[in-house]
Amino acid sequence: MRVARSTKVLALLQACHAIAGQTAANTSNPSLTFKVASGGNDNYFLRDNVTSAQLLLTSENSTSAERRLVVALPAGNSGALVYFSPSDAETTGKNSTAALGVSLVDGSFKSATTDYSNVGVRADLAFDANATLGVTIIGAVRAMRDYVEGGGVMHEIFNYTLAEYNDTSVRLHRQWINTTSPTSSDYKSADLYLTAPAGSSAQLSVTPGNTWTPPTVNIIVPSTSEGQNTTSILRVTMVTNETSLTGLDVQAFFLPQNGTNATQALETALQGLADGTNAAAQQVSFLTYADKFTAGGWRFLTYFGRDSMIALRLLMPTLTSEAIESALGAVIERANSTGALCHEETIGDYASFVNIGNGHPEVGNQPFYDYKMVDTDLLLLPAISHYFLELPAGQRRAAQFFSKNASLQTGTYADILNRTIHYNLQRATPFSQSPNVSNLIGLRPGQPVGNWRDSNEGLGYGFYPFDVNTALVPASLRATQKLIEGGILDFAALNASHVANVASVWEAHAPALFDVTVNGKEAEARLESFVEAANLSITLLDSTARQPTSKLSFYALSLKEDGTPVEVLNSDTGFNLVYGENVSRDFLRHVVDALQPYPRGLLTDVGMVVANPAYDSNKTMIDVLNRAAYHGTVVWSFQQGLMASGLARQLGFCSLDNTTSVDTNPVPSPIPEWCSDAQFVRTLRDAQARLWTSIQGAKDEIYTEVWSYAFDNTTNTFSVADLASLSPSGTESDAIQLWSYGFLGLHDPNGGNTTSL
Ligand SMILES: *[C@@H]1O[C@H](CO)[C@@H](O)[C@H](O)[C@H]1NC(C)=O
Ligand SMILES: *[C@@H]1O[C@H](CO)[C@@H](O)[C@H](O)[C@H]1NC(C)=O
Ligand SMILES: *[C@@H]1O[C@H](CO)[C@@H](O)[C@H](O)[C@H]1NC(C)=O
Ligand SMILES: *[C@@H]1O[C@H](CO)[C@@H](O)[C@H](O)[C@H]1NC(C)=O
Ligand SMILES: *[C@@H]1O[C@H](CO)[C@@H](O)[C@H](O)[C@H]1NC(C)=O
Ligand SMILES: *[C@@H]1O[C@H](CO)[C@@H](O)[C@H](O)[C@H]1NC(C)=O
Ligand SMILES: *[C@@H]1O[C@H](CO)[C@@H](O)[C@H](O)[C@H]1NC(C)=O
Ligand SMILES: *[C@@H]1O[C@H](CO)[C@@H](O)[C@H](O)[C@H]1NC(C)=O
Ligand SMILES: *[C@@H]1O[C@H](CO)[C@@H](O)[C@H](O)[C@H]1NC(C)=O
Ligand SMILES: *[C@@H]1O[C@H](CO)[C@@H](O)[C@H](O)[C@H]1NC(C)=O
Ligand SMILES: *[C@@H]1O[C@H](CO)[C@@H](O)[C@H](O)[C@H]1NC(C)=O
Ligand SMILES: *[C@@H]1O[C@H](CO)[C@@H](O)[C@H](O)[C@H]1NC(C)=O
Repeated sequence: MRVARSTKVLALLQACHAIAGQTAANTSNPSLTFKVASGGNDNYFLRDNVTSAQLLLTSENSTSAERRLVVALPAGNSGALVYFSPSDAETTGKNSTAALGVSLVDGSFKSATTDYSNVGVRADLAFDANATLGVTIIGAVRAMRDYVEGGGVMHEIFNYTLAEYNDTSVRLHRQWINTTSPTSSDYKSADLYLTAPAGSSAQLSVTPGNTWTPPTVNIIVPSTSEGQNTTSILRVTMVTNETSLTGLDVQAFFLPQNGTNATQALETALQGLADGTNAAAQQVSFLTYADKFTAGGWRFLTYFGRDSMIALRLLMPTLTSEAIESALGAVIERANSTGALCHEETIGDYASFVNIGNGHPEVGNQPFYDYKMVDTDLLLLPAISHYFLELPAGQRRAAQFFSKNASLQTGTYADILNRTIHYNLQRATPFSQSPNVSNLIGLRPGQPVGNWRDSNEGLGYGFYPFDVNTALVPASLRATQKLIEGGILDFAALNASHVANVASVWEAHAPALFDVTVNGKEAEARLESFVEAANLSITLLDSTARQPTSKLSFYALSLKEDGTPVEVLNSDTGFNLVYGENVSRDFLRHVVDALQPYPRGLLTDVGMVVANPAYDSNKTMIDVLNRAAYHGTVVWSFQQGLMASGLARQLGFCSLDNTTSVDTNPVPSPIPEWCSDAQFVRTLRDAQARLWTSIQGAKDEIYTEVWSYAFDNTTNTFSVADLASLSPSGTESDAIQLWSYGFLGLHDPNGGNTTSL
């Protein structure tokens, strides 16, 4: 059913048309409308004073037999997923893969309000053949994802019902699990309407189902041979009565250009952001709201702590206080009473489903906040410290921010943050007393996930993630220390030098536990067998041959519970460069070695892969982390952003040249010892240049979530491949992904442009 597409494009076809007459200054009435083509889909976005929504439609030129429509609203994380199949391909003998075309009528995607003040969106779709409604899921975006990514999983509890219908109109109704009376004022539901608007020749033929089968809905399009010349249009309207969120428009989100005492690099980065002329500014704005940042569309239009904080860290120098504090506030509001921070919030109808599954049906559809990750807790203090201590936007705002009363729980932000500080310190203490593997921070009991790599497979079946233990634990402690020293955490009864001592044990001992060394001969032999297994060409190794005598060292992706390293070369060193203090020369050398052309290192012509199992003595990793795996030899844009930002930060510590850095990172005192080694600094700069060349090789993709590569054996080059068409589970990439927009806060030292694609 899925067909391979050799490339995917990000085309900004009708970017940034502000609604006529509505000036950008009207912040109470933000308005966005833009289109992004990606991964074989056309994605349309809108935000106005009624709603925010994304609509995805299979591209017209797709060779897939089915056409998919997705509508996703951040309000309640609700939406609809609909497949349209050609209904008479067999009877007419048509080539079934080309039997149906469904296209969006230009200008028809609008917000919609229906009875009962339900709001959402509508769009007119032109059909060129008879079609039948395939799998249809209405209500929770998470239920839609379960179907798309979960091998067709559907839960009966989310079934919709057939409401009124006739031959030009049908309403499919989804009543939330924990809502009962349609007459009560808090009744929650979603509706999908299919209607033939006046003048359309399309008709509907609806046959009710029964207890076990959904209704049959056929869309009838007259043949042109029947003498008709009207277009067969079906209007699709999807509405819900979940509360729409207040968006942060571009002015509220980005600092004005020339409005601040900015460096030249920051001035350059700010071009086209607050005035919305840069299409990417509009896209990232679509993902941000007054009370939370969402992670990506269509699949993650809801709160994710890690995504919010990493995106924030990269974008922060370009953001207003309002935007930064809304992201920080969202994380603090959702902390649990122990101080752990929330990974994902589940809201709307799906919250009932999760609560029932957790044995708590009595809480109904109260949001479910999940605290399973071990990295999220550690990302907040570094963001807070960078903002209040290092950036102009945060100056003199701490007292006011920390005295705020939370709205999702009781207590002030200071009370909540205090718990997080103590929680993180307590988790870090055992290792500081005895720096053994068993005192590292591992996955939580019973959880297969803990960091951004998201699964057993993503971590190579390891238990102690590299990023958490080498970068994030010490970073959180150092941030705490600096905030205490800066007089900002007067509410946390803590001694800064104690915190510093704990941090220094982690910095000194954790990376070595992850160090993997392979002798040169063995490394070459493993590379050669990897090249064969991954269908690459042996000539890729020629240009960068290593001395067979020199050994290879890199940091493991994770450690098994017994401390055995998972020998997968990976990109997580970027976390240390962005968040770390006292990053050693030895560490930087590992980074330089990793930033070699793939498969020797991580850099392809179309970006930096996040994992490379070439050197693993356990050959099964080659399959587990292949180019079809979500966290395999694939490119995640935010990882490139972290690596690029981190190299700029570390090089900036030598205070050689700060004019190219958008971010403000105070130079440590004393400066790192390697700064005086000109040859070493040049080695780092060369690695930085290679990284950016690789990034620019897929610059059309940089704001999407993830992509894979295709390798051409005749030219020995890599090109972008759509992950959804390779992935056995159908995992697809979001067309717009919050943390990928971190590139808006970065400067390409090679002189390339990242802001005007
Ligand atoms: C939204 O704005 C439009 C025009 O800008 C106005 O006509 C309409 O009443 C507003 N709707 C709401 C719900 O505020
Ligand atoms: C489909 O159309 C888009 C433009 O909308 C184009 O960029 C892409 O290459 C086309 N894909 C195929 C498979 O022809
Ligand atoms: C159907 O059409 C597609 C795309 O045009 C083509 O690749 C395929 O070979 C055709 N199949 C048949 C059975 O004609
Ligand atoms: C309800 O959902 C189940 C599981 O997806 C499906 O098999 C069944 O056909 C659905 N029933 C109706 C009436 O839609
Ligand atoms: C079909 O139903 C729609 C919505 O209920 C209604 O507006 C329309 O008048 C109906 N058409 C006919 C022919 O009854
Ligand atoms: C939600 O919509 C239903 C109809 O679908 C309506 O009965 C109910 O009053 C609405 N609730 C709110 C809060 O608008
Ligand atoms: C759609 O089906 C109807 C019969 O239900 C038929 O008359 C018509 O020709 C078909 N349309 C097309 C485009 O084949
Ligand atoms: C059908 O109508 C469209 C305008 O709606 C017109 O452009 C086209 O020429 C007409 N085709 C025929 C065959 O009459
Ligand atoms: C900002 O300042 C630069 C020169 O420093 C100038 O070229 C540019 O036009 C200014 N932009 C705005 C929006 O004022
Ligand atoms: C801008 O900042 C620099 C250094 O931070 C300072 O020397 C200068 O006076 C500032 N200029 C203005 C206009 O505030
Ligand atoms: C929510 O719905 C489930 C399933 O029908 C039910 O068991 C539970 O009691 C409901 N919870 C509340 C608070 O109504
Ligand atoms: C908060 O989350 C952490 C991490 O999952 C957990 O250990 C702790 O028990 C939670 N606290 C409460 C009160 O549930």
